[in-house]
Amino acid sequence: MVGKTSEISGFYKLSPEERLGKLKELVNITDDDIKMLQNAGALDLENANRMIENVVGTTQLPFGLALNFMINGKDYIIPMCIEEPSVVAAASYAASLARPGGGFRTESDDPIMIGQIQMVGIENPENAKKDIMEKKEEVIRYANDVDPAVLVKYGGGLRDIEVRVIESKRGKMLIIHLLVDCRDAMGANAVNTLAEALSPRIEKLIGGKSRLRIISNLAVHRKARSRAVWTKKELEKSTKGKMAGGDVVEAILDAYAFADADPYRCTTNNKGVMNGVDAVVLATGNDFRAIEAGAHSYACIDGRYKPLARYSKNENGDLVGEIELPMAIGLVGGATRTHPIAKIAVKMLGVKTAKELGEIIASVGLAQNFAALRALATEGIQRGHMNLHAKNIAIMAGAKGERIDIVSKQIIEEKRIRVDRAKEILESLN
Ligand code: MEV
Repeated sequence: MVGKTSEISGFYKLSPEERLGKLKELVNITDDDIKMLQNAGALDLENANRMIENVVGTTQLPFGLALNFMINGKDYIIPMCIEEPSVVAAASYAASLARPGGGFRTESDDPIMIGQIQMVGIENPENAKKDIMEKKEEVIRYANDVDPAVLVKYGGGLRDIEVRVIESKRGKMLIIHLLVDCRDAMGANAVNTLAEALSPRIEKLIGGKSRLRIISNLAVHRKARSRAVWTKKELEKSTKGKMAGGDVVEAILDAYAFADADPYRCTTNNKGVMNGVDAVVLATGNDFRAIEAGAHSYACIDGRYKPLARYSKNENGDLVGEIELPMAIGLVGGATRTHPIAKIAVKMLGVKTAKELGEIIASVGLAQNFAALRALATEGIQRGHMNLHAKNIAIMAGAKGERIDIVSKQIIEEKRIRVDRAKEILESLN
């Protein structure tokens, strides 16, 4: 890019193909690179070009299936979209170990999102708060009569209003929370539309000036919960009898206590939860940044960053895992309805409501965390990673077809998981 500019006027007006032509003049890419970008796969360029701006291609991620999940007595095959090896296998394994304990039991809140209206320049915020609360029912009625976000039609709408006075760097502010039932939508568009439509009325009611009108991703009123029991017996079997089941329970409780007490560990612990959560969120075309932001913020909602999943021992000495996290996901609108693969993901799950999907996602998050803690607290995670890692090394060394397995097996046995050794073995096979 030296000596060239990234200010390209009218770039957005060009077709993806024309954009690639321009791009070639500016950066070091070959015709093969361009072909690769254009090789769009299921999400064709026309569709992609309608989804975001300045599109020149699409990218792909592996789409895998987590098996063995029994949730509320029903079996699901769960699509996961992720680049990291072992995540899908770990979730599936955790789900299989949970089956003898009855699988996952879930529940969740109504799909209520918060829309925030920031009011400034109000002389007496406490009085203004009282004024809004007195007129609350009237404002709610007005919002639902006008239904600017077309929610009432689908059984949703503005349910309640909360008002907070906050201290800020620039003095007191009045923050109005619109509690909006979004039904099967994630809700960002609907909530933002409603907040913008209502703000002039709020200004009229209490004076002052509305500034930001936007959804909060801290979706505390829309949480999903999942719970599972991993029996001592299953846990013992999982170590091939190397550890007693009760010891595995204790080791996992120690791992949980570590995360609970230490933010450095807790961040990694929660990253493990999000490996599962994000993969399903992504596969179903949902907004994983919204879920990430909400989850981590919720994890420290009482002032200390804590594990998203909790563990305890029941009266039989079995391990009980429970998770609760905000779950702002949708089934209507956005990429869930436009991305061809996301549509298939939803179809194979067979979910009818966003609530059901959210509970599945929470269960995968719990399974993922359990799998990581079990592995870390027993044999460590590297052994499990090695199979896939060795296969990748064999492929990097040039192995194809059945030779991938032959080479990877040998480098594992020799404990020399390196490309140079894989190449030597490959040559010896010729
Ligand atoms: C790796 O992606 C996730 C883990 O580090 C999670 C954890 O440590 O709990 C294995």
